[in-house]
Amino acid sequence: MKATARAQTNIALIKYWGKRDEELILPTNNSLSLTLDGFYTTTTVEFREDLTRDLFYLNNQCVSGIPYNRVNQFLDIIRQKAGKHVFAEVRSTNQVPTAAGFASSASGFAALAAAGSKAIGLTLDDEELSRLTRRGSGSACRSIYGGFAEWQKGELSDGSDSFAVPIKPQDYWDIRVAAVVLHADMKKVSSRVGMKRTVDTSPFFKGWVDSIPHDLEQIKAGISERDFEKVGSVAEANCLKMHATTLGANPPFTYWYDTTFKVMQHVQMLREKGIPAYFTIDAGPNVKVLYLPENEVEIKRELESIPGVTDVILSKAGQGISYL
Ligand code: PMV
Repeated sequence: MKATARAQTNIALIKYWGKRDEELILPTNNSLSLTLDGFYTTTTVEFREDLTRDLFYLNNQCVSGIPYNRVNQFLDIIRQKAGKHVFAEVRSTNQVPTAAGFASSASGFAALAAAGSKAIGLTLDDEELSRLTRRGSGSACRSIYGGFAEWQKGELSDGSDSFAVPIKPQDYWDIRVAAVVLHADMKKVSSRVGMKRTVDTSPFFKGWVDSIPHDLEQIKAGISERDFEKVGSVAEANCLKMHATTLGANPPFTYWYDTTFKVMQHVQMLREKGIPAYFTIDAGPNVKVLYLPENEVEIKRELESIPGVTDVILSKAGQGISYL
């Protein structure tokens, strides 16, 4: 009753922003992502009859309390699915520099779902695994696959048609992402809280949802044509629209910091100089920059030169779930 799995994180090019069901984690829009090789979580799950509660070790430290309750709740879902009532020891190692501003929840829940379901004896195909992973963290359901993946929001109220599907594999296109780490100590509004406040109060939310089908169609065309400018410009515009919804919320909020804005302007300036680069930003201040391999050296140098940038971490397209 023991299994180990590894999952890589992903960056959304068309963002998931807004839930129609908080409990089942059902989104209001489809999203599309690129899995990244630089950031991953390795998790071992062992279900043991001798345990009287779940034990969770994160980077070799036993952790418990409110931030980790989601792990226990997720194990409950796995137990219920398998019809077994046995506690687990979970050991997770994150190769996701927390400072890089990547939600380690994406790789974390994907690895936990894969290792946990295998350890308890469930045999799930990718679609079933993605559906299960979604219950831990929405964005994680896309990390089942390498390369480009799309989370189909689904229509049904039980969530059975809400899961991710592969779009193009890891080796389809060598497109890269620089994670630009900023010196910022802003109080963070979690994605969960930010989404809910936006859905409930922002008059811009409807415009956001209405604009998704066109963005998706455009980005998929760009991916099929390997048209970097098309993919980059659609992703950048989609990110700006998502962040605009937060300014319309009540109370209003933003994830941006002054340096966030400086990086965005620098990326636009690089394009004016003829270097193709586009940014995207998740629910935090750090910026991710899409670029092509031939511009890697210059991109890194340029991003590192921006005052307030503390690190630039480079990544290629990553692979889907692997079992170790
Ligand atoms: O799955 P969560 O709760 O970490 O939400 C992720 C939301 C964004 O990162 C902002 C967008 C996305 O699609 O990953």
